[in-house]
Amino acid sequence: MSRPAKIIIDLAAIQANCRLAQAIAPDSKTVAVIKADAYGHGAAEVAQALEPQVEMFTVSCLEEALVLRENGLSKPILLLEGCFDETELKIATDNQCELVVHSSLQLEQLLNATFETPLNVWLKIDTGMHRLGILPQEVEFIYAKLAASANVKNIVLMTHLAHAYSVDGAHTTMQISRFENCIQPIIVNANQKVELSMANSAALLAWPRTRVDWNRPGIMLYGLSPFTDSINVAKKLIPAMDFESQIIALRYIASGESVGYGCTWTAPRPSTIATVAVGYGDGYPRSAKSGTPVLINGHRVRLVGRVSMDLISVDVTDLLNVEIGDTAILWGKALSADEVASWADTIGYELVTRMPKRVTRVFVNQA
Ligand SMILES: Cc1ncc(COP(=O)(O)O)c(C=O)c1O
Repeated sequence: MSRPAKIIIDLAAIQANCRLAQAIAPDSKTVAVIKADAYGHGAAEVAQALEPQVEMFTVSCLEEALVLRENGLSKPILLLEGCFDETELKIATDNQCELVVHSSLQLEQLLNATFETPLNVWLKIDTGMHRLGILPQEVEFIYAKLAASANVKNIVLMTHLAHAYSVDGAHTTMQISRFENCIQPIIVNANQKVELSMANSAALLAWPRTRVDWNRPGIMLYGLSPFTDSINVAKKLIPAMDFESQIIALRYIASGESVGYGCTWTAPRPSTIATVAVGYGDGYPRSAKSGTPVLINGHRVRLVGRVSMDLISVDVTDLLNVEIGDTAILWGKALSADEVASWADTIGYELVTRMPKRVTRVFVNQA
């Protein structure tokens, strides 16, 4: 019998969320974002579930792409940060990867390399995120160099939006305009269609102007909302990760007694406290405050005291018939990871992505 903390990944939910993304923009193609082990959901299994539905996948780096190839995935894979040095270029081409080019250094490495088969390049333009990308005023010049290179087949022009998840649209509108303006001369002069890519999940859901040739949904595939505000379309998403464990002890404490490290919570009344076998060693955030919701037998109760490495405590005083072995849901379909994240001063993205290996992962609805 192992520790009861486990995550259950519903692959049918991921397929349904992807269909929703595609129904919103039926004229676009989909690059499913499955970096960081598919945001903690298991990149190989998620890719296998999505492969019939999407045109391609994207990951951060070559190592992540090779995991997909080792697992038999054959669709093209985009490396979102491109190659980290020239030695990766050959491995990337041998493995049918497409490359983001975001800097002059990467451009030079690509142009100076010797390849047998040219590859597809996604030229990333920095329109306002200011992390990666060439400057809008460099686009025409760099595009021309890429287009003239025997190492390059197709070029997609892309940008990444910094604030599409907010209803305050000023920054997103500015980024879209910068993108549209700087690529205009290329589109006008091109003798074939130039493909474009702008939308992440938030943009796809809320910014119709960003739904162009290729969309790049990530978090919405896993059923979490990219928005800080409540947006109706995001309510249709189905959370794909259920995180659960079990009660392993019950104690009855007097009013005025404290619970857990640091004695940060004191019982205001005689209380029944359930000890659940899950802690920050299992990916439950240590920063979760007293009051964070937990579901016990489907009922909402509250975390009390500090989260420790292997255990949390919840106040079950108001529940009838609580027993050792009962299930505790930490987040999932019935309790959003986004809500739990808000009690821990973080976002749902971080909670699902950083699940450690010691938590058992179970896949359901696998074809
Ligand atoms: C370039 C790029 N496109 C798309 C995405 C997907 O974003 P989201 O998970 O918000 O949909 C990411 C994620 O960080 C990204 O870096």
